[in-house]
Amino acid sequence: MSSWRGLCFLVWIMLIGQCQAQLKENFYSSTCPNVESIENQAVSKKLRQTFTTIPATLRLFLHDCFVEAGGPSFNVELGRRDGLISKASRVAEKIPKPSFNLKQLYSIFSQLNLTQLDMIALSGGHTLGVSHCDQFSNRLHSFSSSAQTDPSLDPDYARQLTAACSDSDESTVIILDPETPQIFDNMYFKNLVAGKGLLSSDQVLFSDPASQPIVRDFANSPGEFNVAFVAGMRKLGRSGVKTGRQGELRKDCTAFNS
Ligand SMILES: *[C@@H]1O[C@H](CO)[C@@H](O)[C@H](O)[C@H]1NC(C)=O
Repeated sequence: MSSWRGLCFLVWIMLIGQCQAQLKENFYSSTCPNVESIENQAVSKKLRQTFTTIPATLRLFLHDCFVEAGGPSFNVELGRRDGLISKASRVAEKIPKPSFNLKQLYSIFSQLNLTQLDMIALSGGHTLGVSHCDQFSNRLHSFSSSAQTDPSLDPDYARQLTAACSDSDESTVIILDPETPQIFDNMYFKNLVAGKGLLSSDQVLFSDPASQPIVRDFANSPGEFNVAFVAGMRKLGRSGVKTGRQGELRKDCTAFNS
């Protein structure tokens, strides 16, 4: 059987070379009568290989992930493979700095194929979590060489921050969403509207007229924010994904396999 296939294949190659200009539906009826079933088998085999390979390597495992602090729940696509390069020196250029303006922020997110809407929605993740005084002390007159406190900062909030940070130290922890720190909600956007974005890169989403309408939308509609946040998370999970034979699946996620 396999020698027949080999022979048919050989004949087929020769015929391609000789008779390209002559197309006929039954072109192989005499030279390779089984060509369709042979091709069918080859394609089916390939499909079977693909179906057993993809689920193990690609993002086909779905896992229910519930954010306990409330907010939207959604299926996370799992199965991203691990890269074979991991260097601390390559990290800084890929993550947004707290000093970034809208354009600089977007240049980072666009490299991940995320839109400005995704970027703003994902920034809403700052409804949870903390930062440190050295990340925003340049906005406070007392701790920086600037003549005045960042005017986009609410004066009362600026006074609270100045009191909380004894200097521009990195040890003091400051909550990103002081209103509802334990709840996943759209308070982050309400804070921005009120001039209470902790990092400059938070507040700029409202200060810049290009992104302000979206911030207002999310501040007014938790539903709209939730939908956009989930969409952004899904896209983030797909960006730069390694599949197939790329990278590896680490046995210990802190180290390369070899
Ligand atoms: C962005 O999208 C392009 C086109 O689909 C793709 O080639 C590229 O790998 C994507 N980049 C990332 C980081 O996912």
